[in-house]
Amino acid sequence: MTLPPGPKDNPVDLLSNYPSQKALDLLDAYHAEYGDIFSVKVGAWQSDDEPMTWVMLTRPDHVKAFFQGDLEVLSASRANVVLFGEHLPKEGTFAISGETFKKRKRLVAPPLNGKRIKPFVPYIYQFTLGLARSWEVGQKVNMLKQIHLITIETILKTVFGIKEGNKFSHLCSEISKLEDQQATEEEKLGAFKILDDVILEETKRRKESGDYKTGEDIFSILLRAKDVEGDGSGLTDQEVHDELWTLLHAGFGSTSTMIAWVFHSILSHPEVYARVLAELDEVLGDGPFEQEHLNQLPYLDAVIKETFRLRPLFLVAGARQLDAEWEIGGYRLPKDTMVASCSYILQRRPELYENPDQFDPMRYFGKKIDPYQWAPFGGGQRKCPGMAFALQETTVLVATALREVSLSLENKAFVPTRQGWFVAPDGGPLVTVGEKRR
Ligand code: HEM
Repeated sequence: MTLPPGPKDNPVDLLSNYPSQKALDLLDAYHAEYGDIFSVKVGAWQSDDEPMTWVMLTRPDHVKAFFQGDLEVLSASRANVVLFGEHLPKEGTFAISGETFKKRKRLVAPPLNGKRIKPFVPYIYQFTLGLARSWEVGQKVNMLKQIHLITIETILKTVFGIKEGNKFSHLCSEISKLEDQQATEEEKLGAFKILDDVILEETKRRKESGDYKTGEDIFSILLRAKDVEGDGSGLTDQEVHDELWTLLHAGFGSTSTMIAWVFHSILSHPEVYARVLAELDEVLGDGPFEQEHLNQLPYLDAVIKETFRLRPLFLVAGARQLDAEWEIGGYRLPKDTMVASCSYILQRRPELYENPDQFDPMRYFGKKIDPYQWAPFGGGQRKCPGMAFALQETTVLVATALREVSLSLENKAFVPTRQGWFVAPDGGPLVTVGEKRR
């Protein structure tokens, strides 16, 4: 049994406390010194557990073998416990495996697929429009905080099915504390409790009134889901509860942070900004963003994909812990090793991408992507089921805000900064609101 080479020095806190640029530089340095597959000792995420050996995969063929590997050996649920620790909802997708996972996937993935979520477009459009119209000329905004407000409203409406009103506004301000660096632990726990109570109350109310039978929000869809390909049974109330928490944990901060990077990419490249605006004006004219526009914006789509390629949200995208020995790249890795797709290096390989550090949306303009060269959403059976949701939200939000007002960036440099679990643009980024465009 051998591990690939790697640094022999003290274990690094690569995934948790290292400043982002330092962590990215270290990954590049290890890759340069030890090659395409290397081992590194990493501390557990936000915990005092013993550091563990992680094997980083950076080559498309290794990443493919990894994502297509046997889930009985490559355990995602065990890796997720290492990554998320006590925060992991015990009966949600992240934490389950085997037949329980397969059944869950059959019930949770369909309501998140591209066709089913198209009716959510008008909500994202209206929430973004409302916020963008409230910005004043000359105002400086932390874009990430503004995006959080829209993504929370979208989740409350489309996932939780809460109607706009006092309760909706109160929940928005509570949920925003979950990703707020300034919020105290006590405030975060308070927000958890409030949302938890809402899920319990709403489950009871919906079951008593029967309105979950027709509701189009994901909460109602999960309450009435039946595993027709399996034994026909549905989800318990506890499973629905944990799944809603999983979707919130997985979908809120990640999507918001990625959208912040998309604004950063566009606003730091004037020629890209001009072309995005030209495409939006041509396709949308003066009207609202409609569902059919989603497939009519190839340039914005390419800008988003190029941002996902180049801007690391996490240092790895897809992790597994070995339940038995596993062979890759000529190494036989011992049981319990953590293995990950290191998308940051994979997506900047010079033989795959000419001038890899250059932001060039034309790489993806009208082109198909290879899922093992571009893998920010992981892969295989455990690939992110929220990918279509995240891409749709990004497209509608970015398009709507940019059509409404001119925006300019304070700092155009790439300065990755740790924001909780994610790597975000420094300052959010900080953006100045210019003249109204409409
Ligand atoms: C930019 C936004 C997002 C990114 C980059 C992202 C990325 C990822 C990645 C890398 C994984 C692990 C995949 C693997 O292990 O192979 C994952 C899992 C997951 N994501 Fe996302 N995600 C995003 C948004 C969302 C959204 C919006 C939702 C839900 C509405 C969501 C729900 C999930 C769930 C439930 C899992 C667990 C899947 C499993 O273990 O089988 N994600 N995501």
